Amino acid sequence: LSNAPLDSTKLKIISSTKPSKPKPNDQLVFGNTFTDHMLTIEWEAGKGWGTPEIKPYANLSLDPASCVFHYGFELFEGMKAYRTNDNKITMFRPDMNMKRMNKSAARICLPTFDSDELIKLIGKLIENDKHLVPEGKGYSLYIRPTMIGTTNTLGVSTPDKALLFVINSPVGPYYKTGFKAVKLEATDYATRAWPGGVGDKKLGANYAPCILPQLQAAERGYQQNLWLFGPEKNITEVGTMNAFFVFKDSKTGKKELVTAPLDGTILEGVTRDSILTLARERLDPKEWEINERYYTITEVEERAAKGELVEAFGSGTAAVVSPIKEIGWKGNDIQVPLLPGEQSGQLTKSVANWIADIQYGRETYDNWSRV
Ligand code: COI
Repeated sequence: LSNAPLDSTKLKIISSTKPSKPKPNDQLVFGNTFTDHMLTIEWEAGKGWGTPEIKPYANLSLDPASCVFHYGFELFEGMKAYRTNDNKITMFRPDMNMKRMNKSAARICLPTFDSDELIKLIGKLIENDKHLVPEGKGYSLYIRPTMIGTTNTLGVSTPDKALLFVINSPVGPYYKTGFKAVKLEATDYATRAWPGGVGDKKLGANYAPCILPQLQAAERGYQQNLWLFGPEKNITEVGTMNAFFVFKDSKTGKKELVTAPLDGTILEGVTRDSILTLARERLDPKEWEINERYYTITEVEERAAKGELVEAFGSGTAAVVSPIKEIGWKGNDIQVPLLPGEQSGQLTKSVANWIADIQYGRETYDNWSRV
C-alpha cells in the first residue's frame, strides 16, 4: 500500500449532531461564517493519501514545530458554488482550481493528487451542508481548499507529512460596498511578484506581504494597490485580483481589452481565463482586439490624457469583477471613465453579467458548471 492515491470512495462521514440554521444574507460578511462540516485528508511520505473524512468543523491540533508555522508550507484555492435558478448547486470550473492547486503543491514540495477525486469529495462536503448555500444575486458558497506541511521539525526540508483540508463559507459580495468602483494607488515601492518567483502560485506567502502596502495606500485614500513591476513599471495585478484595461484608439476607433500575460508573475486566475474566453468569443473582432500583453502605467497615463482610456477592472473569484474609477500615480489621479450615474464602464458591466448568467445557471457554457 505504498503511496496510495487520493480515493474518494474511501470517504468517512461523521455528521454534526447540531446542524446550524442559515444566516440571513445581509449578515454574511465575506469569509466570516463557515458551514457545519469540513473535509480533511492526511498524507504521509511512503504511504500516500489517507482516508478522506468529512466531520464537524473544528479546531485543528498541530505540533508547534509543524513546518507550516515556520517555513510557509501552505497553499490554498478559492472557488465557488452557486445555487442556480432551478435550485441545483453547481461549482464553477473546479477543474481549473484543482489544476492550479496541484501546481502550487508541486512548487513547494507538497503532495499532488487526482483532481477529480478532490472535486468529488468537495461535492460531498457541499452536499452535506447544502442548506447553508445561500441564494440570490451576489451570494454563493466560497470554497477554501488548503494544504499545509505538518512535519514536526525545524529542519528545512521536504515535508514528509501534509494535511489537505477544505472549509466552506457562505458569502455575499466581497466588498461591503458591493459593485462599486474603487480607487487604486499605483505601487512601485513594493513588489508583489517577480520573474523566477512564485507570484503565479496560490501560496499564502504571497498574500501577507501585500497588506502593509495596502494600509499605506489606504492612508492616502486608496482602497487597493495597482501592482507595478520593473523599470518599465508594467501593470501586473490589482490587490488580490488580475487587472484588465480597455483602450480605444482615437484614430481607428478600435477598442482593445488588455491584461498582462501569464509570464510567471501573474496568478492564473480562473475568472481571468473565463473573461478572456468569453470576450474572444463574444466581442466583434471588427471592433475589438483582445490582448495578453505587457502594458505600463505610463501607457495608461498617456492614453488617459488622449481620452483613450475607456475602462478598467479587476477580476477574481471572490469579487468576480471589480470596477476601477481612479488611479493615483506620482501625485496625480488618473480618472477612469464610468457610465453616467453608474459604477462601471459598459464592457465591465457586460462581462460581469456574462459570468453571473453562467454561474447562476441562467445559461450553460461548455462544462463550466459542475453539479
Ligand atoms: C480572489 O478570489 O480574488 C482572491 O484571491 C481573494 C481571496 C484571497 C480572498
